[in-house]
Amino acid sequence: AVERTLSIIKPDAVARNQIGAICARLEKAGLRIVAAKMLHLDQQQAEGFYAVHRDRPFFRDLVKFMTSGPVLVQVLEGESAIARNREIMGATDPKKASPGTIRADFATNVEENAVHGSDAPETAKKEIAYFFRDDELCARTR
Ligand code: CMP
Repeated sequence: AVERTLSIIKPDAVARNQIGAICARLEKAGLRIVAAKMLHLDQQQAEGFYAVHRDRPFFRDLVKFMTSGPVLVQVLEGESAIARNREIMGATDPKKASPGTIRADFATNVEENAVHGSDAPETAKKEIAYFFRDDELCARTR
């Protein structure tokens, strides 16, 4: 089925000028960008977005990292978009990511791992709504 998923190009990749290279991978994989905005998250926005990880030992560092510079937040649409995006991102830890995946090629380590992608339909819905109003998603017209 056609799905939507939330993608974030994280501060490490934005700082390295890798937005274009990463978006090219997303588009080549058949994912369509239907919404995009560049944001510099504040602490509350980052904490709210990653609330499920609140009790993890890496939470404070993660929030610090995610607020360290601008990010590109996007909604991607396509057939099985959630799984497809996860497939091309590769494993969270770039050491474990398959060759040719975005994280294998652009991530620095398990924290500074270049991209985020929603992991399931319910989280995709929640994460998209966290950053976008319904009328900010652009339908395809041609
Ligand atoms: P993401 O897919 O955005 O979801 C949670 C983020 O926490 C993850 O990518 C990494 O940026 C970070 N993360 C996950 N596991 C660890 C870890 N073991 N140590 C540090 N950061 C982590």
